[in-house]
Amino acid sequence: MYTLGEFIIDNKDRFLYSTESLLRLFSSIKLAAKAINKEVNKAGLTKTIIGSTGIINIQGEKQQKLDNYAHKVFIESLKSRNVVCGIASEEEKDFIIIKEKNDNCSKNEYIVLLDPLDGSSNIDVNVPIGTIFSVYIRKSSVNITLEDFLQEGYRQILAGYIIYGSSTILVYTIGNGVYGFTLDPTIGTFYLSHPNISFPKKEKIYSINEGNYDKFPIGIKHFIKYCQETNENRPYTARYIGSLVGDFHRNMIQGGIYIYPNHYDCPHGKLRLLYECNPIAFLTEQAGGKASDGTTRILNIKPSSLHQRTPFICGPINMVNKLEAFMKTNYYE
Ligand code: AHG
Ligand code: MN
Ligand code: MN
Repeated sequence: MYTLGEFIIDNKDRFLYSTESLLRLFSSIKLAAKAINKEVNKAGLTKTIIGSTGIINIQGEKQQKLDNYAHKVFIESLKSRNVVCGIASEEEKDFIIIKEKNDNCSKNEYIVLLDPLDGSSNIDVNVPIGTIFSVYIRKSSVNITLEDFLQEGYRQILAGYIIYGSSTILVYTIGNGVYGFTLDPTIGTFYLSHPNISFPKKEKIYSINEGNYDKFPIGIKHFIKYCQETNENRPYTARYIGSLVGDFHRNMIQGGIYIYPNHYDCPHGKLRLLYECNPIAFLTEQAGGKASDGTTRILNIKPSSLHQRTPFICGPINMVNKLEAFMKTNYYE
């Protein structure tokens, strides 16, 4: 039984930055994950967790009570460790500056970006949901600015997610493979359960909200038809639950492509570059896959705003390459 803490210490040489600060950061992520896990597990028993807050968040979406709870728990937990200097969350318009006790945050080096609760529409119906996190080293030397948050995804030093599913699993990468740790809820410890995760050779699944089919670019429509054609490897199985974390986790383990394209109603796509696509793209590449917006590597995109959206495709390299080839005829019919 190998715990997450022991694993980080034993693999400290793989991390270019301070092990102590990484342990502190993980300790706050683990604590917040356990608090959210506890609430998720009793969601059906208490009205304080199920349902909406009545607020429309910065994304223009109905904020759920658990979105709000997860956001607050993560911010509080990250603030208290004195290693994070700035946080941006899908649930809040502006970034948050963390000050150290002397009112000077220059010693804290990490910038954290969060989707505190991914898959909100699944909270009330017992379908897996998650938390996605992405970490950078600050660029500024004294005062935190927007530029500290608008870094290309390839500059991430750590990314991961927690999936609250049939079990609760924390999956992360520091740029040296992808590792998964399952929570034993009886003692509150994460144990290594998925060493060195990579996409399997066999291509099996495609995941897309096909309800939007009529609105998709022609290249996406052609790719869907390709997935459905019969040949020695196809048709692929269609699987889509509407939680990026859940859909991605399954596809990385079983072999599949996830697609959220732009379409008539969302010309820039729906998913958020900084909170969702960059961290999942980093994990995808570390698991031997590829992540693209249809033409460009996600991790190379220079962000221009905090809540920027992008079309998003990730999965095994061959599947993503095939989709990109179809996208070269990327026009609406
Ligand atoms: P969030 O709950 O953080 O707003 O994210 C929802 C995202 C993502 O998790 C999921 O893959 C996608 O929205 C589902 O969108 P559709 O319902 O449009 O398919
Ligand atoms: Mn999300
Ligand atoms: Mn969310």
